[in-house]
Amino acid sequence: MTKVTVVGGGTMGNGIAQVFAQNEYDVTLVDIDDAALTRAKSGIEKSLGRLVKKEKMSSDQASAVVSRISFTTNMADAKGSDLVVEAVPENLDLKKGVLSKLDKVVGPACILASNTSSISITELAAATGRSDRVIGMHFMNPVPIMKLVEIINGQDTSEQTTAKVIDMAKNLGKVAIPAEDYPGFISNRVLMPMINEAVFCLMEGVADREGIDGIMKLGMNHPMGPLTLADFIGLDVCLNILEVLFEGFGDPKYRPCPLLRRMVAAGHLGRKTGRGFYEYES
Ligand code: CAA
Repeated sequence: MTKVTVVGGGTMGNGIAQVFAQNEYDVTLVDIDDAALTRAKSGIEKSLGRLVKKEKMSSDQASAVVSRISFTTNMADAKGSDLVVEAVPENLDLKKGVLSKLDKVVGPACILASNTSSISITELAAATGRSDRVIGMHFMNPVPIMKLVEIINGQDTSEQTTAKVIDMAKNLGKVAIPAEDYPGFISNRVLMPMINEAVFCLMEGVADREGIDGIMKLGMNHPMGPLTLADFIGLDVCLNILEVLFEGFGDPKYRPCPLLRRMVAAGHLGRKTGRGFYEYES
């Protein structure tokens, strides 16, 4: 497989396009407007700049990575791709619409992967005429740094599709670990209740934010405490995933903490809005 298309030029889509381009793939990055693509390109350049600064690549190599990515607003440019990774916002209808469109644009052998963090792969696959070639490829943020790609098999995903995608993730220097299509898969089914419980601890005054994060960082060797991590992921994203778990399992243990709901209602979504459990500059 050589040609890869990524749909969605947000943080995740940019990171995914970057790692494919870093590993010699020809990449097409699709987003809805030119302004989004300009932001995507500068996001990728910034991310590569960090790697140059850390002496993980030269500036010539960084420029070559960017030159392997074509930026376009035309979904039809996905034609000829071996793999498309959809990384548009977490909205079922939006994702279904994108996948259904892609299904008509790409050739019959092309695999359609979704980077969804919580939407059912089976449901997304049903929007296409190729449910055996639809799969979850869940990258972790920040994509260029994190080793894991969680691979999610929908109801009809073929073994061949899974094997191909695992192989591809390996080519990116990632470790691919498969999971079945149940709410939250593995990563968010385990991570989000921990974050939620940390927010309950904050709401109940068991400790302050630094105390909760400090205990989990120093006591469990987590790189970020759960409240810092929630700010990093986005509190709206965390709430959305908890709602999926709560609804999908019908189990009250997944009920989102009222403080989390209140923060999202106030628009304090974490790093991206400059305020979440902590405050951030611009
Ligand atoms: N490209 C893009 N961002 C990068 C980067 C790169 N090449 N290298 C680092 N970063 C980001 C960090 O997020 C952070 O952002 P700011 O500078 O804007 O504050 C910054 O760069 C930190 O840079 P450092 O060089 O200090 O990075 P570090 O070596 O200390 O590691 C970290 C940072 C890798 C994020 C580490 O803290 C970590 O592993 N944290 C946990 C991350 C995690 O759990 N991710 C999974 C989230 S869950 C998910 O993604 C799935 C989901 O469905 C919700």
